[in-house]
Amino acid sequence: MLSLPSLLASRFEAVTGVDPEMRPATKPQFGHFQSNVALRLAKAEGKPPREIAARIVAEAQLDDLCEPLEIAGPGFINIRIKAAVLAEVASQVLDDDLAGINRAPEPQTVVIDYSAPNVAKQMHVGHLRSTIIGDCFARVLSAQGNSVIRQNHIGDWGTQFGMLVEQVLHEGTDVAGLTLVEAEALYRRANLHFKSDPAFADAALVRVVALQSGDAETNQIWRALIAVSLAGFNETYARLGVLLTDDDIAGESGYNADLPLVLEDLKAQGLAVQDDGAWCVFLEGSETPMIVQKRDGGFGYSATDLATIRHRVGTLGADRIIYVVGTPQAHHFAQVFAVCRMAGYLPERVRAEFIGFGQVLGADGRRFATREGTSVLLADLLVAAEAEVAPSIALAAIKYADLSNSLHKDYVFDVQRMVATTGNTGPYLQYAHARVSQILRKAEAEGFAFDRVTLLEEHAEQQLALLLSRFGEVVDDVAVTLQPHRLCGYLYDVATALSSFYEQCPVLRSEGEVKTSRLALCAATQKVLAVGLDLLGIAAPERM
Ligand code: ARG
Repeated sequence: MLSLPSLLASRFEAVTGVDPEMRPATKPQFGHFQSNVALRLAKAEGKPPREIAARIVAEAQLDDLCEPLEIAGPGFINIRIKAAVLAEVASQVLDDDLAGINRAPEPQTVVIDYSAPNVAKQMHVGHLRSTIIGDCFARVLSAQGNSVIRQNHIGDWGTQFGMLVEQVLHEGTDVAGLTLVEAEALYRRANLHFKSDPAFADAALVRVVALQSGDAETNQIWRALIAVSLAGFNETYARLGVLLTDDDIAGESGYNADLPLVLEDLKAQGLAVQDDGAWCVFLEGSETPMIVQKRDGGFGYSATDLATIRHRVGTLGADRIIYVVGTPQAHHFAQVFAVCRMAGYLPERVRAEFIGFGQVLGADGRRFATREGTSVLLADLLVAAEAEVAPSIALAAIKYADLSNSLHKDYVFDVQRMVATTGNTGPYLQYAHARVSQILRKAEAEGFAFDRVTLLEEHAEQQLALLLSRFGEVVDDVAVTLQPHRLCGYLYDVATALSSFYEQCPVLRSEGEVKTSRLALCAATQKVLAVGLDLLGIAAPERM
């Protein structure tokens, strides 16, 4: 659905040749929009602005959309959309399951890399943000009809597994019986052991080789550590209500077999060169090269990400790849993308985007951490929010706080503000949805049937309808820019316009066609709020 403001602007532009820079009217009596394009053109053409305005008004083909245009003051053009047109667009929202979201004309295969916690470690705030943000992208892009492939690139490989497995054998632990929290404790013990006991450290290194060469016992313990971790991650995903499942797991270890092939290929292309015993790719403008293979023959995080992109484009058929990872990894991905472009793993037609995000700060403005200085866990956040409100509302509060700020900014975890049912918060939007649902429930109980918006005479109801017509474009914008806060801001505007509408236009206490039309407008608003919240991964309760 094209929004009314955009439709108007394009009709104007057909006459003016330049963007009319349509602004919302400052007062209801001026209509809905105002353009000062005549003043701008007059300057350029050296003619009186009102004369130019008169020409535009005479030439613009807007009779189907607008009341006759009016020229005001020095040459402003005032625009009032016909009530019947507004009623029609509001009704169209009701006709569509997705409230007017545009479907991609050429659907793409979009790979989204998100969440990506590490085995034998609990998810920290960074993974939590990645999970919430990536999930929102997955929802938005698939609602538009793209085929979204979620990839949970868990950290399930690396030298740390030598030490972990060695510790398991040393303690005689039954890994299958561990929780993720216990596995993390094991990790910490293994680390201490590694640092304090040289014999253990040596054994751990030997164990890495055993793991790599497929030793049965070692591999069995490694797999058990992964299983225990996945169970823990899945608990978190269930609690968060995100889309990720075991089918989306595509951990680092899955690329092991590809790593030597990638290196051979980079050598053959002359891109990888030996430097101090390591195989490196030097990039223009970057002082440090990317290390593909270390001196000791080991492959690291970077090599894995090269193989990953090669797989995502070559095998999964990605047209677009999105990484949702904390900002500190921006440089890593810039290098990975650059090398993949040079090597032909990432052709120009495939868009690769790194979407970083800021940190969650405590009330003191410092990185949000536990008293022990470790990263805060999801459970801690939820417990803090749940102390104030019901779990479903607490979750909405946390997700909305994550999505409603510019992603790259740090934000302060302020529970009181986040759970408030007033202001730009998740619970406020949930409340707006519950309130409009309650009105519709009452009307249905009284036996009222309403399926179209037919009358829209009041300014407040017209403004609401106008806003609803923009939903499709706002979602388009988020799909392109990957900035969820724009959807949050839009939904907040809808909720605010809804409450002005209630103040100015009685619904249940009105009568006849006014009543059925207002009920239908309520239903359209409910739909936009419900679909919009769902795109954010937030539940839209019918009652609160
Ligand atoms: N496991 C990594 C971490 O915790 C994030 C992985 C992001 N994805 C990727 N393809 N490198 O920092």
